[in-house]
Amino acid sequence: MGDTVYHNTVPSLNAWLLHIADGLMHRIYGTRKRSIYRKLPGTVVEIGPGAGANFRYYKRGTRVIAFEPNVSMHPRLRKKARRRGLDLVIKSARGEQIDLPDRSVSAVVATLVLCTVDDPGTVVSEIYRILKPSGRYLFLEHVAAMPRTRLRSLQEKLQLVWRRMADGCRLNRESHLVIATAGFAEVNMDCFTLRSRWLPFAPHIFGVAVK
Ligand SMILES: C[S@@+](CC[C@H](N)C(=O)[O-])C[C@H]1O[C@@H](n2cnc3c(N)ncnc32)[C@H](O)[C@@H]1O
Repeated sequence: MGDTVYHNTVPSLNAWLLHIADGLMHRIYGTRKRSIYRKLPGTVVEIGPGAGANFRYYKRGTRVIAFEPNVSMHPRLRKKARRRGLDLVIKSARGEQIDLPDRSVSAVVATLVLCTVDDPGTVVSEIYRILKPSGRYLFLEHVAAMPRTRLRSLQEKLQLVWRRMADGCRLNRESHLVIATAGFAEVNMDCFTLRSRWLPFAPHIFGVAVK
C-alpha cells in the first residue's frame, strides 16, 4: 500500500545533488538539528530522508524506518546507514500513505520535505496518526515569507520555475500553518532566517510537535 511511481524527471540527479549538499546542510542546520534530536528513541520513522542528511545525528543502533519514494536515493541511504551503524528499513511509499498502524511509533523526523510533497496536510495528518500519545514529530522546513513582503512576492514570482528546477519544491508553502493546525497537543516552533536573507528559501521553521 502507498507505493508510487516517482514522477520527478531527474531523480538520480536529485539524489546526487542532495548527497553533495550533505556537508553544507550540516553546517547550516547541524546545531539546530542537534538541539531537537536529543533523546530520540531506539526507533525513528523518517519521511523523505533524501540522501540521509539526518543519519549523522542518530545514535548508532537506531532503527530507522525511511519512507523515500525516489528509489535513486536508496543505495546512498543504505551505504550511509551502514557507515553510521543504523538499522535501516527503506520503504518507497509516500508520506501521504504511510503503511504503519495508528499510534505505533514514538518519533517521526521530516526535514525539508513538506515543501516537496504533493499534499503537506495529508502527510502531517499521517504523521499524527502513526504517533503514539506523547509521540514527537521533529521538523525543520523552509517556508513562505510573511504575506505582502518583498521576499514573498519574489517567492511567488519564482514559484513555477523553481518547482521545475528543484525536485517539485514550493517556495510559498505555509508549512508552519499546516503543522500548527494539525491537532497536536503542543507545538514548539522556532523561526529563523538564513544568513543570506534574500535567498528565496531563507525563512525557516524548526521544532517539535507533541501528540
Ligand atoms: C529537499 S529533499 C530533503 C531530503 C532530506 N530530508 C534532507 O533534509 O536533506 C525532499 C525529499 O522528500 C522526498 N519526497 C518527495 N515527495 C515525497 C512524498 N510524497 N513523501 C515522502 N517523501 C517525498 C524527495 O524524494 C526527497 O528525498
